[in-house]
Amino acid sequence: MNLRSGRLKGQMSREVADFTSSLEFDRRIFQADILCNRAHTTMLMEQEIIPTDIGEQILGALDTLEKEGIEALDLDTAVEDIHMAVENYVTKVMGPDAGFMHTAKSRNDQVATDLKIALKQEIQNIQNELLTFIEVILEMAEENLDTLMVGYTHLQHAQPTTFAHHLLSYAQALKRDYGRLHDAYQRMDLCPLGSAALTTTSFPINRDRTAELLGFQGPMENSIDGVSSRDFIAETVFALTMLGTTLSKICEELIIWSTYEFRMVELTDEFSSTSSIMPQKKNPDVAEIVRGKTAVLNGELVTVLTIIKSLPQSYNRDLQEVTPHLWKATDTLNSALRITMGMLASAEFKGDRGEELARANFSAATELADLMVRDAGLPFRTAHQIVGRAVTVALNKGMKAEEIDTHFLDEISKELTGETLGIDNSVVTKALDPQEIVHSRKVIGGPAPSMVQEVIGNLRDFVRENNTS
Ligand code: ARG
Repeated sequence: MNLRSGRLKGQMSREVADFTSSLEFDRRIFQADILCNRAHTTMLMEQEIIPTDIGEQILGALDTLEKEGIEALDLDTAVEDIHMAVENYVTKVMGPDAGFMHTAKSRNDQVATDLKIALKQEIQNIQNELLTFIEVILEMAEENLDTLMVGYTHLQHAQPTTFAHHLLSYAQALKRDYGRLHDAYQRMDLCPLGSAALTTTSFPINRDRTAELLGFQGPMENSIDGVSSRDFIAETVFALTMLGTTLSKICEELIIWSTYEFRMVELTDEFSSTSSIMPQKKNPDVAEIVRGKTAVLNGELVTVLTIIKSLPQSYNRDLQEVTPHLWKATDTLNSALRITMGMLASAEFKGDRGEELARANFSAATELADLMVRDAGLPFRTAHQIVGRAVTVALNKGMKAEEIDTHFLDEISKELTGETLGIDNSVVTKALDPQEIVHSRKVIGGPAPSMVQEVIGNLRDFVRENNTS
C-alpha cells in the first residue's frame, strides 16, 4: 500500500526522497523492527484487537523476512523508511490484511522502540569489551607491581610510582565509563511502544505485555515523552564520548612515552608505521589515529544535543537526523576500543628506563620533606623550603639527586633556620630511594605493591560480578 495514495497525490522527486529517507541508517534497526512488529502483533491477537488468523499470517511473514534478511526488502528511498519497507514486505506476502499490523501503532513509537532495542544490545557489547580491556590492564599491572617509573604533574617529573599504579588509573577510568553506560542502559530500559503517534490509542492494548515481550523493565509512563525523547541517545553518546576521551588519553601517553626523549614504551611493529622518506622512522600512527578519530565522538555529541534542544514536544522529523550520529558514535568507539586494547596489551614498558627516570630528577623531594617533618619535627612548610633550596643548590652545583646527604641538608637548614636537622644519613638515603618511597605509600589508592594488589583484587571482583558472557 502506498502511504501517499490517501492525503497526498504527488510523489516526491528522487532528490527529495533521497534527502528525507532514513533507509540507509535504518539498516541498523532492521532486526529490532521485526521484533517490535512481532511483539505488537502478538499483543494485538492476545487482546483480541485483530483476528487470530490474520495475526498468525503477519507473524509468519515476519518470520520469513527474518530468515531472508534485509535484502528481501524493497529499499528504494521512495519507501521512506524501514518501517514502511517491512510493512510493504508483509503486504506483498499476504495482501491488504497486512494493514492490521499497524493497528494502534505509529512509526513514531516504533522507531523510538527499535532504537532502544538496538542500542541496548550495542551497549552490552561495548560493556563486555570494556570488561575485557580492564582484565587486560589488570594482568599487565600484576606483572609490573614493582616496575618503577616517575609520575608527572604538568608533564614535569613529580614523584616516583610504579607502572602498575599508573595502569590502574586507566582501569578506574574505564570502570567509571562502564558505569556511565550501565546508568544510561538502566534509564532507557522503559518501552515507548503503545505511545502510538503521541497520545496512545483507544484500542485496549497491553503495554506491559509488549514491554515484557521486548525485554524492557516496563512501559514508559507518558506517551508524549515516549515519542519525543532522545535523551537516551544523547546520554549514551556522552558516555561513549567520555570513554573515547579515556582511550584518547591512553593513546596520548603511548605517543609521548614512545618518543626518544621518554623511551619508556615500545609499541609493536603491528601498531606502528614508518616514513616514506625517513627510513629510520617508527611512528605511533595507530595511536594518533585513535586520538584523532575519538574527536568524532565529541562532534556527534554536540550534533545530537543541538538537534534536540529546540524541538517542541512530541514527534518531529528532525529526530530522524539524530540516528546516524548515534551509529557513527558507536562504530567509532567500537573500533577505537579494540585497537587501543590491542596496542596497549602488546606494548613493551621499559622498566630500566622507568627506574632511571624515577631516580634522575629529584622526584624524591616530597619524601625528603616528609622525612624532616617525621624525624626532625619541622612544620611541613619549613621542610618544603629547605628541600626546595637543597634542590636549587644541588642543581647549581651539578649534583645528582642521590648525592644529597644529611650533611648537605644540615648546611641548608642551618642557613635558612639557624638549626641543623641531625637526621641519620641512612634514613636520608632510604628517603631518596624510589623503591622505598613507592613501598611506603600504603594508603588507599597509593602505589605500594600491596595496595595495588588489593585494588587489582577489587577490580577483578568488579569484572567477575558484571561478566555476563
Ligand atoms: N524514519 C523516522 C525516524 O527515523 C520514523 C518515522 C516517523 N515518520 C513520520 N513521518 N512520522 O524518526
